[in-house]
Amino acid sequence: MKAIILAAGIGKRMHSNLQKVLHPILGKTIIQYVIESAFSAGIEDITVVVGKDGDEISTQLGQIYPQLHFAIQDQPLGTGHAVLAGMSQISDDDDVLILYGDMPLITGEFMSDLKTFHIKNNTDAIVTAAYSPNLGDFGRVFADDNGFFIEIIEHKDVTPNTPVTEWINTGPYVFKGGALRKGLAKMGNNNSQGEYYLTDVPKILREDGCNARVFQSREDLSIFTGINTQVHLADAVGHMKSRINRHHMLNGVRMIDPATVFIDDTVKIEPGVVIYPGAILEGSCKIGPGAMIGPGSHLQNAIVGKGAHIRQSVIMDATIGDHAVVGPFAYLRPHAVIGEKSKIGCFVEVKNSNIANNSKVNHLAYIGDADIGSGVNIGCGVITANYDGRNKHRTTIEDGVFVGCNSNLVAPVTLGKNSFVATGSTITKDLSDSALGIARARQEEKLNWSRP
Ligand code: UD1
Ligand code: CA
Repeated sequence: MKAIILAAGIGKRMHSNLQKVLHPILGKTIIQYVIESAFSAGIEDITVVVGKDGDEISTQLGQIYPQLHFAIQDQPLGTGHAVLAGMSQISDDDDVLILYGDMPLITGEFMSDLKTFHIKNNTDAIVTAAYSPNLGDFGRVFADDNGFFIEIIEHKDVTPNTPVTEWINTGPYVFKGGALRKGLAKMGNNNSQGEYYLTDVPKILREDGCNARVFQSREDLSIFTGINTQVHLADAVGHMKSRINRHHMLNGVRMIDPATVFIDDTVKIEPGVVIYPGAILEGSCKIGPGAMIGPGSHLQNAIVGKGAHIRQSVIMDATIGDHAVVGPFAYLRPHAVIGEKSKIGCFVEVKNSNIANNSKVNHLAYIGDADIGSGVNIGCGVITANYDGRNKHRTTIEDGVFVGCNSNLVAPVTLGKNSFVATGSTITKDLSDSALGIARARQEEKLNWSRP
């Protein structure tokens, strides 16, 4: 079976500059979910129909899925007109699944069920319908008692004379290539929107005596959510979030309150991880077994080691070693690499720095462009002065160094192995191994001093 995915509409109702199907849902765009579901149903040959301004769609998707075909619908004259534009890969004896690009929750299993129904009934056309007393802006489906298709009446074409139905047109269709081509050639645009409706094609085929049937779905209606407005988009995020979280929980991840946890579809989490309320895990995060992601933590492309603890922290493009502890209230920025069992404490910011194993930066510090060895203790309030206003420089702190509180390390500078920086020093020159560096004004005492 081949597929055509429609993504050439203008998405007016979104009121957005972004193409509708490129809106994000938990780490992927709307249309990526449709494409990946089709792949999971074993459908490899897919044509995506984009509008004349759809370069962004084809460029983005082409990079991720080089096997896709693209077709252009010059003007958005309706869903039937869009299918016509996408027919170049379809021969008469192909079976074709037609999908709307704005239905991210549609599943591969549903597509497989349609395939099976198609094979069993040797249909020329299948329309899928779901029972929904609340019809919304879906098309209304009419069938006879034997499940043969009669017609779809679009929401906007409903009149007081339209008969009553509680079946909605959920979207996916299956056609035989030859029948589809014949039906498309005959469709018109005599309706309230002046559009060429795909929904008219099965009716034309049925009137020509073809085998056009309705597949009645028993799935939860949420899988048919079509994104027409920002409200639908937020609904879809909610459903996708539950689906993703459920998947992780069934894999052994413990979530205290999954309703408040947002995990991108691209994130990998090992069993035994505990996730507290309000956590957000995005991009290419990988969370090792037994790690703890504390409340309100925001992780983007973070690698978190086995048994590490992250509490109320923001972590972007950083790596945290096994059994390390981060936070509460730490900020790890790109290329921060924290070693095993090291500790990054409260109000500490780390950027583009390597901190080896068993080192501590426990309170109120800024570590930027530094290489820190193991067993190092960085006191409260220490900063690396890494920027001279023009260039960034590195600070090297070798194994076993102790940096006293409130010291400034003016880069470029190296603190030798086991050296010691006295509290309140501003270190501008390298320190030898095991040396004490002290660089602060001496205290003076003025006896019996009173305010002038
Ligand atoms: C469509 C169906 C409706 C069904 C609903 C399910 C038609 C006429 N109506 O309505 O019966 O209940 O989906 O969600 O098909 N598109 C194009 N070119 C166009 C117009 C649309 O490629 O000229 C694409 C859009 O980008 C979108 C998809 O087709 O991805 C569906 O179009 P949309 O306008 O959202 O259709 P609905 O009004 O939702
Ligand atoms: Ca839609």
